[in-house]
Amino acid sequence: MLRRQSFGQKFLLCLATLSCHLAAALSRPATQLQDGPQFQVNTTILRRSGEWVEVSWSGMRSPSIHDAVALVVPADVDYTKTAPAKHKWASDSPTHLKDGSGSLKFRLLNHRADMKFTMVTNLTNWLGLFDVVAESEIIKPANPNEPLQGHLARTESLSEMLVQWTTRDKGYPVVRWGIKSGDWSYNASATTDTYTREDLCGGVANSTGYINPGLFHTAKMSGLAPDTRYFYAYGDEDFAFSEEFSFVTAPPPGSDATVKLLAIADLGFCEEDGSMTWPGNYPNAVAVEPYGTDVQIISEVQNALHMGWVDYCAALITAKRMQEDIDGRTLIVHNGDVSYAEGFVYGWNIFMDMMGPLVQKAPYMLTPGNHERDWPGTGTRFDFPPAYDSGGECGVAYDKRFPMPLQGKDKEWYSFDHGPIHFLQFSTEHDFAPGSEQYAWILRDLQRVDRSVTPWLVAGFHRPFYTDSVYGNSDSGDVGFTDAIRAALERLFFQFQVDVTMFGHVHSYSRTCPIFQRNCMGYAPDSSANAPVHMLIGHAGAPYSWTISPETPPYYESVAIQHGYLRVAANRTTMHMEAVNSLDGQVVDDYTLTKPSGWRPNQAAQLATIALFHSNYTPTWLELSGINGPAEDLVLRPAEALLFSDPELLHSLRNATLVKNPIAYDTVEALYQIFEPINSIFQDRLADSAATSEAAKFFYEHYFRDLFALYREHRDGLVKGRNSSLVAPVRVPVGQNV
Ligand SMILES: [Fe+2]
Repeated sequence: MLRRQSFGQKFLLCLATLSCHLAAALSRPATQLQDGPQFQVNTTILRRSGEWVEVSWSGMRSPSIHDAVALVVPADVDYTKTAPAKHKWASDSPTHLKDGSGSLKFRLLNHRADMKFTMVTNLTNWLGLFDVVAESEIIKPANPNEPLQGHLARTESLSEMLVQWTTRDKGYPVVRWGIKSGDWSYNASATTDTYTREDLCGGVANSTGYINPGLFHTAKMSGLAPDTRYFYAYGDEDFAFSEEFSFVTAPPPGSDATVKLLAIADLGFCEEDGSMTWPGNYPNAVAVEPYGTDVQIISEVQNALHMGWVDYCAALITAKRMQEDIDGRTLIVHNGDVSYAEGFVYGWNIFMDMMGPLVQKAPYMLTPGNHERDWPGTGTRFDFPPAYDSGGECGVAYDKRFPMPLQGKDKEWYSFDHGPIHFLQFSTEHDFAPGSEQYAWILRDLQRVDRSVTPWLVAGFHRPFYTDSVYGNSDSGDVGFTDAIRAALERLFFQFQVDVTMFGHVHSYSRTCPIFQRNCMGYAPDSSANAPVHMLIGHAGAPYSWTISPETPPYYESVAIQHGYLRVAANRTTMHMEAVNSLDGQVVDDYTLTKPSGWRPNQAAQLATIALFHSNYTPTWLELSGINGPAEDLVLRPAEALLFSDPELLHSLRNATLVKNPIAYDTVEALYQIFEPINSIFQDRLADSAATSEAAKFFYEHYFRDLFALYREHRDGLVKGRNSSLVAPVRVPVGQNV
C-alpha cells in the first residue's frame, strides 16, 4: 500500500523522462540471435489454457545469474514497447551455470494470441537493458476463442446471476443453464464489451503493460429460484463452450437458512509455475522500473523489509485454501486491491485464472482499491499528494471486468442481499463526505434497508475505518484516512446499526470491539452488539504492512499478522466469523455476533447515545504522537540518502538479485547488500536516543530485531564466503499441498 505514495514526486520526474529512456532503448539492437544458443520449446500448439510446456537450451555462452527465459505475448511484439508476460531465471535449471544448458517447465495460459519464449541476458530491467539471444518457435493457441476467465456476480435481484467470460472474437456468446447437470434448459445471450489502450489513463497501462485484453461477454441468468443449485456453461456457438460449473442461489428472504461468506482484501496473484511477472506482486530483479530508476531501488529495499514478501506466494495459497470452503450458498467479497496488475493485462489474465476455481462456483462481489482506481487527475479522492497506484488503469479495467449493480460509470457503490445479510459496498477512492453523491446514496441505502428481512448489515469498502497502523496523518495515510472516514460515516453507521465493516489496505488482520468514537460499547441485554465491529481483512496475499502501532489500541480484540481470509456463516440470529490462516487452515480468531429473533433497529436509542458521545472523543497515542510515516523517517529516508551518496552501493543494488524466484531462497549476496546499510542505520538511530521515537524502538524490537540478529549472526560468513544460509521464516513452495 505504501509503495508509490512515498516517492510520488520522484515518480512524476520518472514519468517525465520516460520518453528519453525509451529513445535510448530503441537505439539498442532488440535481438542478438547470431551465434545464440540452441533454444526450443516442446510444443508449437497450446491445446488448452493451463497446459505445461518445457523450454530447453544448450550452448549458452558465459551463462550468468542474470539470464532468464521469458514468455513474450504476442509473438511479434516489439521488446522495447511491451513488457514480457513472465520469466524464470535460467539458473533455476541446475546445469545452466555449469555448462550453459538447461530446461524449465512453464504453465502456459491462453492469452488469445501467438506466443514465444525468449532467452534474455543482462536482465536487470526490462526495456533497454537486456539482450535477446534466442527465440523459440511460435506457440499458437489451438483456439484463441477458448472461453476463459469465467466469473459469477450477483445483481440486486435474488432471481438473477451474472456470468462474464473472455474470448478474442465475438460470435454468438451465450450462457446455458438448468437444474440438472448437462440438461441446460435455459439460455441467455451476452452483451460484449472491452477496453482499449485509449480508454486507459496513463502509466504502464496504456504503454508497456497493454496487450489486447480480449472481449468481455456478460450474460444474465434470470428466473432463478431461491436456494437452488444451477448448472451452467458459457461460450459461443461458433467457437467453444466452457466445462460445466454450478452454484447455489441465496435462500429466500426471511429464511432461517445459513449462508456462507468468504471475505478478502489485498490479494494479488501468482503463477502456479513459480515464474515472475513484471512487475507482479513480488520482486524479480532489483530495479525493474522500465527505466531503471533509483526510486524503484528504494522501493525494493522497502519491499525487502515487508515481512512475507519474499517468503512464499501468499495470494495463490490463499486462493487454493479458499477452494476448500466453497459450498452451497457461498458468496465471495473482495474489498479492494484485487489483482495488483497495475496496468498489466497479463496480470489480470493470470489473476482471473487463479480465481477461476472460486468465482465460477460462487458470486464474486468487489469494491475498488487504490491499486484499481487511483491515478492523478481522474476523479479519485486522492489527487494530492497524487496517487499512481493503478498503474494508469484508473478503474477502467476493474469496471469492465467486474459487472456488478453499480450506480453508473465510475460510481462504484451498490448494495444487495444475501440470505440474512444486507451488503452495502462503496468506494473509498471516491468522495464519500457529506454533500457527495456517494454519501447521499449511502444514506439512502441505510434508510431503505428492511432489517426484518436482512437483520445483518455489513458494509464493505477498501481503506480502514479504524486502524492500528501509524502510517501517515495525511489524507491518504492510514491515520489521516481513518479520521476522515469516521468523521463522515461513523455516526451514520452507529445510528443505522451497521453490524460489521470489512476493509483492507493495511495488510494484516484485526478486529475491534463493538465501537463508537473509540469507546467499546459492549453488548445489550438481548446479546446484540451496541455498535459496529470493524474488521481489517487486508491479509489475503499482499506483503504484510510493517507500520502497525507500537501500542495496540485498547479497543482491538484481535490482531494477527498472518495471511488468510475471513470465513463467515450467518443465519438470522447468529453471525459466526473465523479468521483462517491460509498456510495451515487454522482459525486464528473466532468471533460470534448474535441478535434475538425478531430484532429491530432502535434509532431513538442510537440517537440518544450519539448525543451523549458527541464530544466524548478521546485522542489515542496514535493521534497525539504526530507520527507521519515513522518507518520512512527511520529507515527509508536515511537509506535513500545513503544510497544516493554511494554510487557503488547503488550500482551493486541495481545489479543484485533479490530473489531467484518466489519459491526459492533469497540469495545470500543480495541479503548482505540489502541489510548491511539498513542495519547500520538502525544501529545509529537507536544509539541516538533523542532521535529514537517510541515507534522506532517498537519497529526494531518487534519486526526487525530478530531479522537483524540473524543477519548479524551470519554476517561474517556472508562477508567472507557469502555461502552461509540464513534460516528462513515459514516458506511453502507454490503448489505444495498445505
Ligand atoms: Fe490499498
